[in-house]
Amino acid sequence: MSTITTTSLIHVLLALAIMLGRAKTDPDPLQDYCIADTKSAPSIFMNGMPCINPALVAASMFATSALARPGSTVNQFGFNVTFANTANLPGLNTMGLTMARVDIAPQGFVVPHSHPRASEVTICLKGYICVGFVDTSGHLYTQILRPGDSFVFPRGLIHYLYNPDYRNPALAVAGLNSQNPGAQIASLAMFASTPEIPEEVLKKAFKITGQEVARIRGNLGG
Ligand SMILES: *[C@@H]1O[C@H](CO)[C@@H](O)[C@H](O)[C@H]1NC(C)=O
Repeated sequence: MSTITTTSLIHVLLALAIMLGRAKTDPDPLQDYCIADTKSAPSIFMNGMPCINPALVAASMFATSALARPGSTVNQFGFNVTFANTANLPGLNTMGLTMARVDIAPQGFVVPHSHPRASEVTICLKGYICVGFVDTSGHLYTQILRPGDSFVFPRGLIHYLYNPDYRNPALAVAGLNSQNPGAQIASLAMFASTPEIPEEVLKKAFKITGQEVARIRGNLGG
């Protein structure tokens, strides 16, 4: 093998090692499970929840009915996301997982948002769901999901879901690979933050007037 090929091989291996290191999600658990102690008020602040005594663990701590009932979609966007997380499913603690039930009213929207700490896979169970995400080069990837179809939203990228049907609600279940994926709604982050982003910044960023900034803030309850 020539010196040049060896050098490029080392470069490729180094690049791979760096990429794999970055692909990690939540830290790995150090034990089989760490049932979240949701009762005692935290006296120390840690990355995740403290575990209860393993001798007190019951099967029910790995189960939840949190996703059994639809959330109310009577709100400004017509959607409701119900989570199964360490609060109602303490067995999820340190597993790097969150689940969500997404109910979307007829013509309802899960408005553009991102999850800074998780990729998401969504399966459509009822109705039609039009989904899309925009990558960092500005390309939109969009699909219409029918019952049984799944779609992946890559970690951190802005995505949306909407139900194009006029009559029937839609239902999806999502899995996210973090126990604390975080969610940032693009429009609210820009126009309803506390304190407010200076008007000049929004005028420049969106090429709009001060009146338009005020109107959008009012519409979003900002
Ligand atoms: C989601 O649904 C629950 C249960 O019906 C309700 O308490 C909650 O207010 C709803 N959230 C929104 C944003 O509508």
